[in-house]
Amino acid sequence: MAHTIVIFGASGDLTGRKLIPAIYSLHQKKRLPPDTRIVGCARTSFTHEAWRQHLGESTATFLGSQFDKAAWESLAPRIFYSPGNVDNQADFQSLAALLAEIECGQPAERVYYLSMAPQLYAAAAANLGAAQMAAETNGPRRVVVEKPFGTDLASARQLNTDLHAVFAEHQIFRIDHYLGKETVQNLLVLRFANAIFEPIWNRNYVEHVEITAAEELTVGHRAGYYDTAGVLRDMLQGHLLQLLTLTAMETPVRFEADCIRDEKVKILRAVRPLKPENVATDAIRGQYRAYANEPGVRPGSQTATFAAVKFNIDNWRWQGVPFYIRSGKAMSCATTQLVIQFRKPPFMLFGGKTEDRESNQLVIQIQPAEGVQLRFYTKVPDAGMKLRMTDLEFRFRQQFTGPMPEAYERLLLDVINGDASLFARSDEVETAWSIVDPIQAAWDSGQPPLLLYDAGGWGPEESTAWIEKQGQHWFDACPVLH
Ligand code: BG6
Repeated sequence: MAHTIVIFGASGDLTGRKLIPAIYSLHQKKRLPPDTRIVGCARTSFTHEAWRQHLGESTATFLGSQFDKAAWESLAPRIFYSPGNVDNQADFQSLAALLAEIECGQPAERVYYLSMAPQLYAAAAANLGAAQMAAETNGPRRVVVEKPFGTDLASARQLNTDLHAVFAEHQIFRIDHYLGKETVQNLLVLRFANAIFEPIWNRNYVEHVEITAAEELTVGHRAGYYDTAGVLRDMLQGHLLQLLTLTAMETPVRFEADCIRDEKVKILRAVRPLKPENVATDAIRGQYRAYANEPGVRPGSQTATFAAVKFNIDNWRWQGVPFYIRSGKAMSCATTQLVIQFRKPPFMLFGGKTEDRESNQLVIQIQPAEGVQLRFYTKVPDAGMKLRMTDLEFRFRQQFTGPMPEAYERLLLDVINGDASLFARSDEVETAWSIVDPIQAAWDSGQPPLLLYDAGGWGPEESTAWIEKQGQHWFDACPVLH
C-alpha cells in the first residue's frame, strides 16, 4: 500500500528543522517505505518545484556534512505542495484531488501531521472529517498532533473532544519528542531488561529522584509563544512528566502501546496533586533577569522560565520518596539528567558519620552525551582507609558507532507503522494537566513570588536553600559524561 505524509503548517520552522531532515534520514537509511509521498500544505504559495528547492536548501543547512545531494535528489520528486488554509473547507477539496492523483486512486496509508498554531488543530480535524479524509475505508488514516496539547486541563479535554469527533483514539498520535530520544527509550531497557535494578528501584533503597532539564539557551525569538506558556506548560507538563512516568512506572505486562500507557497513566494518577497552600512550599518559580528585555515579552511579564517542583507519588513503590523536577532556560549548561539517589549505608564502618558521606547515585544522562554513570565509594590506594567517590560509566558513543538518530526519525517511523507506544494517550495528557494546573493557578495568582536569577547558573539561589531545607542537594553538574 502507498504511504502519504501530509504536513499541515508546512511552511513553519518545524518542517524544515526537524520533519524533513528526519524523513530524509529515514529515506537515506532505506527505512522509509519506498512508495512514500510527502505533501506540504500551508498558506504560503509554492509550486512543487519551488517547495522541493526550498526544502533541499534547509535540509542541507540542518544536516551539514550528513547531507548527501544524490540521496536528496532521489527523495525530492516524491515531495509535493498544496497551498491552503486549514480553516477553509474548499482548500481540502484541492488537497484531496492532489492526494488522489499521487496515490493513483489506490488505497493508501495516510499520516496527517498537524504542525501549525495549536488553536487551528480543531479546525484542521473538523475539515479533514468534513472532506471524508479521516475515515479508514481506503487505508489507515493517522493524525499527529504536535505540542502543546492544550494549555490546561479544560482546553486539553476540549481538544480531545474535537479530535474524537473525527478520529478514533487509535488514529491519534500526540507527539512528545522526548519519547523519541534514544536515552529515554533506554530507560525502559535499563529497568526492564536487567534484573539488577528492580530490587533496589523503590522506597527501601531510593532516597529521592531528581530530574533536571537545564537549557543554556534563552527564549530568543520565541517569546510570542513562550511568554504565554512558561516553563510549566512548555517543559514540565510534557517532557518532564514523561521522564517521571518512565522512571517510576511498574513493568508493563507487554511491550505494547496500551500496556505501556496504562502503567504511565497509573503513575500520573498516583502523583499527589499540590494543594494551593502547598505550592509555595513545594515549588519554586524563577525568571532569568534578561527575560524582560527579550523581544516580544509583555511588559512586567511574570512568566516563569525556571521551575523546581517536589512531587510525591502515592503508591507502595514510591511512598516517601520525593521526586524533584526542575527545568530552566539560561542555565549554566545544556544537560538533561535523571539522578536516582540511594539511601546511605545504615552504619559507617570506615570512620566518619554516615550523614557526612555522599550517597550512591545512578545518573542517567539523557543529553547531550548519552550514557549512564554509577557513583560509589572506593578505597584510595596507599592512604589507610581513606575513601573517595568514584564511578562506573557507560557511554553510548563508546559502545556503539554511528550518530544518534534524531527523535523525530523514530517517532515518524512509528506513526507510519501505526505504533503508538511512544505517543501520549488522551487520559495521559489530561492527567498530566491535572498535575500542572494547580501549580500554574497558584503562580498566576502571584504565589509564591517570582524569583529572578542570573543567566549561567542553576536558577534562583533560593532553589539551593529550598532543597537543602529538605535535607537534600541538587546534583548541579554540567554533563558528567562527554
Ligand atoms: C520544546 C520546548 O518542546 O523542547 C523548548 O518548546 C525546549 O522550549 C525544547 O527548548 C527542548 O528540547 P530538547 O530536545 O532540546 O531538549
